Amino acid sequence: MKNKRIFITGGAGFIGSNIVERLENDNEITVYDNLSTGKKEWIDGKRVNFVLGDILDFENLKKYMKGHDIVIHLAANPDVKLGEKNNKIDLDINFIGTYNVLESMRINDINGILFSSSSTVYGEAPVPTPETFGPTKPISFYGASKLAAESYISVFSAMYGIRGVSFRFANVIGRHGNHGVIYDFIKKLMKNRNSLEVLGDGTQTKSYIHVEDCIDGITYLYEKVRGYEVFNLGTDGSTNVMDIAKMVVSLLNLKNVKIYTTGGKDGRGWAGDIKVMLLSIEKAKSYGWYPKYNSDEAVKKAIMEISGELGWKY
Ligand SMILES: NC(=O)c1ccc[n+]([C@@H]2O[C@H](COP(=O)([O-])OP(=O)(O)OC[C@H]3O[C@@H](n4cnc5c(N)ncnc54)[C@H](O)[C@@H]3O)[C@@H](O)[C@H]2O)c1
Repeated sequence: MKNKRIFITGGAGFIGSNIVERLENDNEITVYDNLSTGKKEWIDGKRVNFVLGDILDFENLKKYMKGHDIVIHLAANPDVKLGEKNNKIDLDINFIGTYNVLESMRINDINGILFSSSSTVYGEAPVPTPETFGPTKPISFYGASKLAAESYISVFSAMYGIRGVSFRFANVIGRHGNHGVIYDFIKKLMKNRNSLEVLGDGTQTKSYIHVEDCIDGITYLYEKVRGYEVFNLGTDGSTNVMDIAKMVVSLLNLKNVKIYTTGGKDGRGWAGDIKVMLLSIEKAKSYGWYPKYNSDEAVKKAIMEISGELGWKY
């Protein structure tokens, strides 16, 4: 992606700030973020124009989006768990927010969107799950909101000729990780080095893609597409939560840590937690994209990166 004026919603977040670093030298970037979970310091000093704004503020969004060529739409409630307590937040931010982004694009004549969708759209599907799997039956409000957002991108593409790609991410991990299992484990161990609580029964098994691979994937695949497409973006293999707990303990050089599980309903970490997730990435591979790190390698790399950032003392 070169010589483009790129508008990144949620660009101060985990994935967004990594994208900024990757694209800042070859493009003109505007980050539009309300900093609800993102951090300004992650993009400070980068070649970006930062706008503190909310995607639910349609007039503001429309105003700042003007003059760009492409939108990378990442702003969302990223926390699947939150839907259990608040079943409207995903509808508002993830779905209405995406509608606002699409409508602002239409009005401003912007013709391309890369959308951060999620493996959660599939619900509890057989694995490895291909893009053709259906009917999709999400089990979280988050998953439902991403699926609804995808379908609006499809319609905007069909009606107005917008180029759009929905990337169904597996669990993305790496530098600037600010939520998720690795971050949680390290934070817990920083408080207490003797014991580690694992949500659920520890057998939840998911595929973890490193953020570097994720960015390679979206930028590469977007260029290959005309019209509207959906791609799974994951990696080879999967890793279970108990193994992640053991890898964290071992890589942080801890001994005698009591690892215990909360059990959870059906062994899930929270209501709406998918127990087994592995995306088929055959479609992306058939377009010529291959991940560098498999799931276990990505987990180990991310443990070192996140513990370093959090200032882990050995
Ligand atoms: N990290 C993952 O494993 C993963 C997996 C699947 C999909 N995704 C999706 O990728 C995107 C980025 O996720 P992330 O992991 O970087 O999370 P993140 O929380 O670090 O990034 C989200 C960013 O959006 C901003 N934001 C939230 N609500 C906003 C609003 N109303 N207006 C403007 N900005 C707003 C936040 O401040 C943050 O900077 C999200 O859409 C998420 O759903 C992430």
